[in-house]
Amino acid sequence: MGNLPKHITIIMDGNGRWAKQRGKERIYGHFEGAESVRACCELAVEMGIEYLSLYAFSTENWNRPKEEVAGLMKLMAKSILEERPTFEKNNIRFMVLGDRSMLSDDLIADIDNAMEETSGNTGLTLIVFLSYSGKWDLEQAASRYALDFKDGKTDIKLEDYLCTAGIPDPDLLIRTSGEQRISNYMLWQCAYTEFYFTETLWPDFRKPELRLAIETYSSRERRFGKTGEQIK
Ligand code: FPP
Repeated sequence: MGNLPKHITIIMDGNGRWAKQRGKERIYGHFEGAESVRACCELAVEMGIEYLSLYAFSTENWNRPKEEVAGLMKLMAKSILEERPTFEKNNIRFMVLGDRSMLSDDLIADIDNAMEETSGNTGLTLIVFLSYSGKWDLEQAASRYALDFKDGKTDIKLEDYLCTAGIPDPDLLIRTSGEQRISNYMLWQCAYTEFYFTETLWPDFRKPELRLAIETYSSRERRFGKTGEQIK
């Protein structure tokens, strides 16, 4: 395969529909979706991808039915605890990014433990966006930027205040389940990102589907605003 994406990000969509098609509760789809997370991580490690990030829960998702939100938070805590040995075994650095003010203290403690424990790992960086939205990120960055600017710091860049500071912008954004929109996800960071949309529902998106998305990306020409001739 030609040039591999350094950072792949995924909007994991379609869990609810997947469950409904089987006459089950929505949460069943989320649990099956967690298996897709596992499969995609495995392939990312096998292929030597540097960053894999996942949109697991948006700021807007707090408005979902109480039981579904509680179920998702429980799944998150369970996955973090269960996958910690896998992170170590595979040299994975684990990160969770987003608005922590809405998360429970217990979940924050689990997240921090896992982040600390894996902070020295040098293989795949796995990022879970939890209670995140692009507008939230820009707003929190702008507030902190303004304070520093007021304090006399003028040689500063807004992107260094985003919660993704230090992480390369995504090269490839995948969205499953046939929806073709960005839904308040990394609004700044996706300025030059290649988009890949697929009808596949997230619980059905496994290694072959991810491989196909990466192959499609590899065959595209990225110009970053330049002409085709300039980048040759
Ligand atoms: C979107 O499907 C999916 C979510 C809002 C949750 C994604 C969460 C997981 C896959 C859980 C596991 C995550 C990790 C990191 C362990 P939807 O509910 O919007 O589906 P629908 O559009 O069919 O209703």
